[in-house]
Amino acid sequence: MILRTSLTVLWTLTAGAAQAQKSEGCLSAKCHVNTEPMHASPAVRLGCTDCHGGNAATEEKLKAHVLPKLPREWNWPSSANPERSYTLTLRESLDYVRFVNPGDLRAAPQTCGDAACHRDIVYKVQHSLMTHGAFLWGAALYNNGAVPLKTPIFGESYDPLGHARRLYTIPAPSPEEMRLKGVLGHLQPLPQFEATQPGNTLRVFERGINRLSNRGFGTLTRTDPVFQGLQRTRLLDPLLHMLGTNDHPGDYRSSGCTACHVLYANDRDPVHSGAIARYGNLGRSFTSDPTIPKNESGHPIQHRLTRSIPSSQCVVCHIHPGTSYASQYLGYMWWDNETDGELMYPPQPKQLSPEQQSRALARNPESASLRGNWSDQSFLQELSTLNPKLKQTQFADFHGHGWVYRAVFKHDRKGTLLDAEDRPVAHEDPDKFKSRLPWNSQRARRAQDQRTRRAVARA
Ligand code: HEC
Ligand code: HEC
Ligand code: HEC
Repeated sequence: MILRTSLTVLWTLTAGAAQAQKSEGCLSAKCHVNTEPMHASPAVRLGCTDCHGGNAATEEKLKAHVLPKLPREWNWPSSANPERSYTLTLRESLDYVRFVNPGDLRAAPQTCGDAACHRDIVYKVQHSLMTHGAFLWGAALYNNGAVPLKTPIFGESYDPLGHARRLYTIPAPSPEEMRLKGVLGHLQPLPQFEATQPGNTLRVFERGINRLSNRGFGTLTRTDPVFQGLQRTRLLDPLLHMLGTNDHPGDYRSSGCTACHVLYANDRDPVHSGAIARYGNLGRSFTSDPTIPKNESGHPIQHRLTRSIPSSQCVVCHIHPGTSYASQYLGYMWWDNETDGELMYPPQPKQLSPEQQSRALARNPESASLRGNWSDQSFLQELSTLNPKLKQTQFADFHGHGWVYRAVFKHDRKGTLLDAEDRPVAHEDPDKFKSRLPWNSQRARRAQDQRTRRAVARA
């Protein structure tokens, strides 16, 4: 017994010393002092380099840090997620991707998925719909006649080197499993759009400048418009292999496991964000690490993994028709841009130069924003503060794609506003949106607060 105890003490001491060594240089006086422990579980002791790589034996930043292959695109040396980085996480070296985000799916097999840890979960997340997106691609390609198969065969997946790869189910599913349980045999990368052909060749007779060109198949734009759409638009926002676009208030996230398990500040409504509502919607850092600027967007709130994931973390991706379950669950829709539009458009039409237009559309693909005030980031940031002035709806504080989400309220068939118990509410009632909605009622707020407190206690 005594021997066991002393062995445990010895083991703990050695493990402690090993952990300290892996963090030594990083935690030295001029660097990441006071940083929160990312992995708070007492069962494991991880040093900085277990997750990030790099060299903890030095206090010289440039020797300790892993350096990027593409410094300009990362805005190196900033650690903020760059705006609209799209495929950057695939083009960068594995070592640097791991250094900036150990939870990225290229790095996760080495870090989170290390043999003793979460290997199963890493495997499953790589096969998740949130990583490969096969459902929407399959539906779009089949329903628009681009691919004659109802079973999805295209999905997104990359190996640790950043190369597109096929995913297989091993052993291959039986026809029953495929039919009754929806198990897929394999998924392959989308072909390059230049190699695709229009499904219906008669489309080349379409009139106007948007016609699909009069050259041969595979040249200019005489390609399949559905494949082009899937590759060139943000129907699924970037999927889990990539960072989010990090370019709007209420639209910040990382990639891989980090996308869900490390929280970003996106929404000031405690019903959506729980305890993190107070950190705002600008993706700012509140870490005790003195090296992280607190006035720059695109940082996690703190250096902490959590299992208490509020809906605001999911709604960053789940806003688009196709994946919009989270915004709808919260009671919002990306809907007409006219309801309560008085406050949304300038009195005189805006005159944007072609450069300004293309800059605005790169952020927010919705062309109505070119006329509206919400292409202006400071207007968007404070949009939900207009709520007390609105007559028909209420705006959300999250803004995936830079969009405006409007709350949907229950009406009867004659257009009378109804409360949660189906009692009519007068349109003139100045408090109509305040007290009668389930998520605004005192009771619901108290229940939510309790849930939040419990979650915080657990975290
Ligand atoms: C369990 C794995 C793990 C450990 C251990 C760990 N980190 Fe991290 N670290 C992460 C993850 C995940 C992120 C989040 C990246 C993101 O949000 O994209 C991160 C982010 C960071 C950032 C950027 C924060 C920001 O606001 O931009 C710094 C700096 C950092 N870690 C330093 C450290 C230091 C110093 C240590 C050791 C004391 C350490 N990390 C230990 C996983 C870890
Ligand atoms: C789409 C969001 C999402 C992503 C991506 C994600 N997780 Fe999770 N994870 C969750 C949620 C939600 C829970 C459950 C939290 C709870 O209620 O305890 C969870 C729970 C966990 C748990 C604790 C429960 C258990 O089964 O042991 C671990 C460990 C974990 N995740 C690891 C990972 C790893 C590793 C990755 C990356 C390969 C990852 N997660 C990616 C959302 C996510
Ligand atoms: C990286 C963006 C992203 C994040 C973050 C994210 N999702 Fe998803 N999720 C998706 C996509 C894309 C799909 C596939 C939707 C489709 O094909 O229509 C999906 C599908 C789902 C599905 C249905 C399929 C499945 O795999 O079970 C559920 C449930 C879901 N998400 C819940 C969540 C929850 C809960 C969170 C937050 C903890 C979350 N998601 C965070 C992108 C994301």
